[in-house]
Amino acid sequence: MIALITGATQGLGLALAEGLARRLTPRDTVYLTGRDAGRVAAAAETMPAGGARVRGEVLDVAGPVDRFAELLRQRHGGVDVVFGNAVMRIGPDDDPRAIIDDYTRVNNFGTTRLLTAFAPLLNDNGRLIVVASSLGTLHHLAPVLHRRFTEPSTLDEIDAEIARWRDDMKAGRFGAWPAFVNIPSKIGQVAAVRVLARQRRESDTARGILIAAACPGMMNTPSSALWWDVSTAPTPDRAAVPLLDLALGPVRPEHRGELVRDGEVLRFS
Ligand SMILES: NC(=O)c1ccc[n+]([C@@H]2O[C@H](COP(=O)([O-])OP(=O)(O)OC[C@H]3O[C@@H](n4cnc5c(N)ncnc54)[C@H](OP(=O)(O)O)[C@@H]3O)[C@@H](O)[C@H]2O)c1
Repeated sequence: MIALITGATQGLGLALAEGLARRLTPRDTVYLTGRDAGRVAAAAETMPAGGARVRGEVLDVAGPVDRFAELLRQRHGGVDVVFGNAVMRIGPDDDPRAIIDDYTRVNNFGTTRLLTAFAPLLNDNGRLIVVASSLGTLHHLAPVLHRRFTEPSTLDEIDAEIARWRDDMKAGRFGAWPAFVNIPSKIGQVAAVRVLARQRRESDTARGILIAAACPGMMNTPSSALWWDVSTAPTPDRAAVPLLDLALGPVRPEHRGELVRDGEVLRFS
């Protein structure tokens, strides 16, 4: 089995890499990836022995990821598990106008790039899971904005809506948009998963493939600690368990194209 995790140098991504390394066997390879070579190497050093082989590789989701997909295709012919987990850290004091370009480049265009590059590589029974959030549903968005995320039928159209939102933020046209940029960003990720899974539903069903978004729940990571008191929230290792089950357990058809938390579908609208 071949597995890949983006943003695996700390937090949930590191826990997912470790969990996969433990649950898989020496015949399997886990690609622990991140944007910084030093941090990737340091994270790979911490991986347990005895399970899957772990390879640290630089993969910056803010840039092109198709070269890395091609590398995996040449080395292995395909991929079995992909976790799109990378996220740009921001804090409550960050001005949305200043960060929105980088934020959408990593979290949203990075997600659609990952989906575009890696979905075609999925082997039979493969899983492509985008780590989103329960904030990624329309219940957190003003109704006047819902159509922007329900009408697109391609990833390009999702990207175009995210670009419109980014441009509104940059220009200070906040309108009905929530102040917390994580909300539209996570909704955009879930909408992208929904669109792709809808396009591929028939063949994914026939081939046992699952494309879904997942919410790990509130975790105690340095990123969430910037916003909330997470001292009593689950550790990333604990939060990783249901996501690892989603990646390695049997596919439940109702999960296809949906946002899943603890094995249950969270309604998008
Ligand atoms: N924390 C929570 O309570 C919570 C709740 C719901 C959902 N989530 C979601 O869970 C996921 C993981 O969150 P987390 O709290 O574990 O985040 P985190 O601790 O901030 O880790 C984020 C990871 O993404 C990497 N990253 C940043 N920019 C990147 C880029 N351009 N290319 C590749 N990697 C990049 C970071 O690498 P560097 O070390 O180089 O910065 C880091 O390894 C995110 O999608 C988040 O939205 C988290």
